[in-house]
Parts: sequence; C-alpha cells; structure tokens
Amino acid sequence: MPPDASQPVDAPLSRSAIFITLTVNCGGDALDALRGLCADLPSLVKAVSFRSPPAGLSCIMGLGADLWQRLDMGATPAGLHPFRAIQGVHAAPSTPGDVLFHIRASSLDFCFELATRLMQRLGGAVSVQDETHGFKFFDNRDLLGFVDGTENPVGLDLDAAVFIGDEDPGFAGGSYVIVQKYLHDLAAWEAIPTEQQERIIGRHKLSDVEFPDKDKASYAHNVLTNIEDASGQALEILRDNMPFGSAARGEFGTYFIGYAREPGRIETMLDNMFLGDPPGNYDRLLDVSRAVTGCLFFIPDADMLDRIGAGQPALDAETDAGGEADGAPAGRTDGSLGLGTLKQGN
Ligand code: HEM
Repeated sequence: MPPDASQPVDAPLSRSAIFITLTVNCGGDALDALRGLCADLPSLVKAVSFRSPPAGLSCIMGLGADLWQRLDMGATPAGLHPFRAIQGVHAAPSTPGDVLFHIRASSLDFCFELATRLMQRLGGAVSVQDETHGFKFFDNRDLLGFVDGTENPVGLDLDAAVFIGDEDPGFAGGSYVIVQKYLHDLAAWEAIPTEQQERIIGRHKLSDVEFPDKDKASYAHNVLTNIEDASGQALEILRDNMPFGSAARGEFGTYFIGYAREPGRIETMLDNMFLGDPPGNYDRLLDVSRAVTGCLFFIPDADMLDRIGAGQPALDAETDAGGEADGAPAGRTDGSLGLGTLKQGN
C-alpha cells in the first residue's frame, strides 16, 4: 500500500528546501535534548505547516551511525554505517554528521521558520556542520543547465525504492539517505561544447530527451547511475537535488540527496561515478563538480522516533533483531514515515 501523499520522503519535490547537518555535542544533556526533539518533531512541523497547508511543508530527520550507537537503542538498522569516503579518479569525502534535517516547502519562508524552531529546540546541544538553502532553478534545472530529477521513480515504484520492508522488519517503514554537497566550476563547464555536455549527462540539454541507449557514452551519468540487481531488476533511488550558491562569491552548487531502502545501491552508483565502471571509466560531471561533504543517515519512522524520544530500545523485549514476535513490522503499516504530515492528531 502506498504511503499517504502527505508523508515526507515521497512528498512532491518542492521549490525550496533547507538542508541542515548537525553533530550532537558530548554529554547526557545533549542526548536528552535530541531525544526530546525526536518526540516532538511531528507537532513542531504541524505547528508551522498548519498556518498554510498549501505551502506543503515537510521535514525529514535522519540520524547518523555514531549517534545511533550513542543513543544505545539495542539494535541497529541493517544498512546504517558512516558514509564511506571514496578515493578514485575524483574524491568523495566523508564528513561529520549526526543529524540531518531535510526541510521542504513551496517557499523558503516556511522552511526557514521551521528550521529556526528546530534550532531553538536543540540550542547548545548541537554543533552546525552545514546549512544549505536550496532553490528550484526554472524548469527543475541544475546550475549546469540540465533538467534534474526526470527519471525519479513514482507511485508504487517510489515506495518500493525508498521504504525499508520485510528485509529488516524491526526498522520497516524507515529509509536511508545519502547527502553530498557539490561545487561546480561553471566556467570550465561552460567551456565544454553543448554536444559534449549532453554526452556527459546522456540527455539533450534543452528538451531533456534521453539519448537512445546505443548513442550513450559509456561514461554518461545516466549509464553509470543506472544499475540493476542480479535478476536484472532496476535498483532505483529518489533524488531531490537542489541548486544552491552565492552569485557574489561565485559559488555554484548542487546539493545531492538520494533516498533508498538500503544505501548499498547509492554507494554502487557513487563507486561507478568516482572509481568508474569499468575502473577508470568515471563520470565526467566530476571534472567540473567537486564533492565537499558526504554523510549517510537512517530515517526512523514515527514509531521509532517515539521510541528514541522515550528512551526505549529499538525493538520490543520479545523481539529479536530479525523481526517482531507477531510478525508485524515495527514501522507504520502503510510503509510511510509518518512525519511532517498535515493530518490532525499526528
Ligand atoms: C553534481 C551532482 C549531480 C548532478 C548535477 C546530477 C544531475 C543529473 C541529471 C541532470 C540527471 C538526468 C535527469 C534525471 O533523470 O534526473 C541525473 C540522473 C540521475 N542521477 Fe544525477 N546528478 C548528480 C549526482 C548524482 C549522484 C551523486 C547520484 C547517485 C549516487 C546520482 C544519481 C542519478 C540517477 C540514479 C539518475 C537517473 C539515471 C537514469 O536512470 O536515467 N546523481 N542526474
């Protein structure tokens, strides 16, 4: 069953977003402040979003592997680990991050108001590692001029791509996200003829029409990131990349954010891009795009956030790491995260 449309991971891609990465400071008080926010997140989101539901405000909160250990939850989501740095033709660094907020709305004021409330709640418990304000650029283009997001899965395919299911029943309904901030050398990109830019992406720039497979370069971005499992099934992710930057400072970037039910498929795409497939056949986007951050987070569903808030273990006492005693997933039965909805009583 698909999650409710108002749930945040599969919420419509928005015109504005704020991405905040934090580390949680040492000490029990800091952990208590974080737990308190986990418990209250849905009501905080509701307080801001209720003022204008059409703004479509949503917030996703992710937790990193180190923080998860500190929270002493008794069990760990199968795919949760620190982001693995890659040193290939180009480098993908791993940078600190205990908490991610991915805040989306149709306009930045809603994102900013919620971000302010969240930061007020956390106060001195956290240190800010990064805050990026993203915006949609004309017809969903990145700052390189290409439409970004076209091949995202939709509907049931989207739910199947992003929500943890029976493979990790104690954490079903959750998700994983990898974020990376990329800075573009726009002058270098613009010096590349449009025909070659199109070969690098694997699509036409103006029309966004995909090249036929036979015409795609082996190093095209949409060849290296198009992966399958052993049975030939496409391994999809949900991307909600956002342009960001500063015209005055000459900073032009893409905030990459990719959700998946297990992080391995995103890591395989990254390996293909940075190391190359076969090795050396890397993604030429990286010649003009430098990754400056890299973090991996688990996205707990609403029940799991409540458990964190209450200081309870991740799984019930009678539950082993492989599943609940009654066979039902610990997550929401609709497979959703249950955060940031506009529903009353959430
Ligand atoms: C500088 C950063 C990036 C830029 C500017 C960028 C841009 C694009 C563009 C323009 C497309 C084609 C349109 C579309 O289907 O969305 C695309 C497709 C895609 N990108 Fe990226 N991307 C970036 C990083 C990444 C990363 C880090 C990953 C995964 C780890 C990724 C995964 C994908 C996937 C899975 C597709 C769809 C491929 C297909 O099946 O056709 N991208 N990206």
